[in-house]
Amino acid sequence: MPLPRPLGSRAARAALVVTGAALLTRRALRRRIGASPLWPLPALAEPVSGQPRTRALRLLVARHERVADGVVQLRLEGVPSVPLPGWEPGAHLDLVLPSGLVRQYSLCGDPDDTSSYTVATRLIGADEGGRGGSREVHEALAEGVEVEVRGPRNRFPLIGDAASYTFVAGGIGITPVLAMVRAVDAAGADWRLLYCGRSRAAMPFLEEVEKLGGAAGRVRVVAEDESGRPDVAAFLGEAAPAGAVYVCGPEGLMDAAARALPEGCSLHLERFAPAASAGGDSAFEVELRRSGRTVAVGPGTTVLAAVRAELPGLAYSCEQGFCGTCQHRVLEGEIDHRDELLTDGERADSMLICVSRALGPRLVLDL
Ligand code: FES
Repeated sequence: MPLPRPLGSRAARAALVVTGAALLTRRALRRRIGASPLWPLPALAEPVSGQPRTRALRLLVARHERVADGVVQLRLEGVPSVPLPGWEPGAHLDLVLPSGLVRQYSLCGDPDDTSSYTVATRLIGADEGGRGGSREVHEALAEGVEVEVRGPRNRFPLIGDAASYTFVAGGIGITPVLAMVRAVDAAGADWRLLYCGRSRAAMPFLEEVEKLGGAAGRVRVVAEDESGRPDVAAFLGEAAPAGAVYVCGPEGLMDAAARALPEGCSLHLERFAPAASAGGDSAFEVELRRSGRTVAVGPGTTVLAAVRAELPGLAYSCEQGFCGTCQHRVLEGEIDHRDELLTDGERADSMLICVSRALGPRLVLDL
């Protein structure tokens, strides 16, 4: 067998030079990619949680009907004979509206129906802080229109082993609660519901809810134009010990329920807007480590807005901490989480930059 040629030979020296040059080139390329704002934008391909994003579906608006004052219900159908992904009470769908806005709506149909999804939405005017999503659903999603949906996802799950169930729903907050009430009623569980709204005409599914409550008196309806504001504390005061309390509706209703929660009961909330934080809105800095840039986040702005001024292609959608599109890894700094979407595990090293902020003077993002 021939012996290897000594390293000092001309051929060996040439091989060493070529290998070294290749290594240096690779390192330089990696450094360039790492520092480029175009890599790997627009967002992490997978959420930090490692859970793949749910596949988008194109569904047909098969039915668009008014079910109360200012409320429309949509029945969305997929391809016949191909069952839609299943869901459980409390789940919602992301609707990608024709303008590109993404909005979340609770599923309020029958989970056993795998041919369609049903959602309902209330028209929220600009005077109430609406930003056009519900108007688009009401005006653009007519029967026969195709719409992209993602999900279903459930961040308001119904626990199966509660001693009893107490539900409080305000207005359109009845949508996830309706599917829950049907489920616990069918299971023969002990349940009660306080359903409140501005007027009976503006309260969707009222007839069905009252029918479910039946003679057992499980349902208390409070229409504010008839009987004033609901007494949430008195209603919860009658809850059985060790029960589960589910609340969906305006912020004030949820605060009232949280204040009046009987000892031993668990509280489950579904919010329409991000929770207020005690942290205030102080200014801080965000370093974008891979881009080599630093942005200032002032009191009146969001991390997302500040970062997009530097990286305009950065993906985002709901801007309310609901959809998860703007989840990014945090390398350094203390996070003031203001969403209700991320799990504790995800919160350890990532944040939703559309709503969450810094507790200290500086954050470092993996961007
Ligand atoms: S844009 Fe939807 S969670 Fe931030």
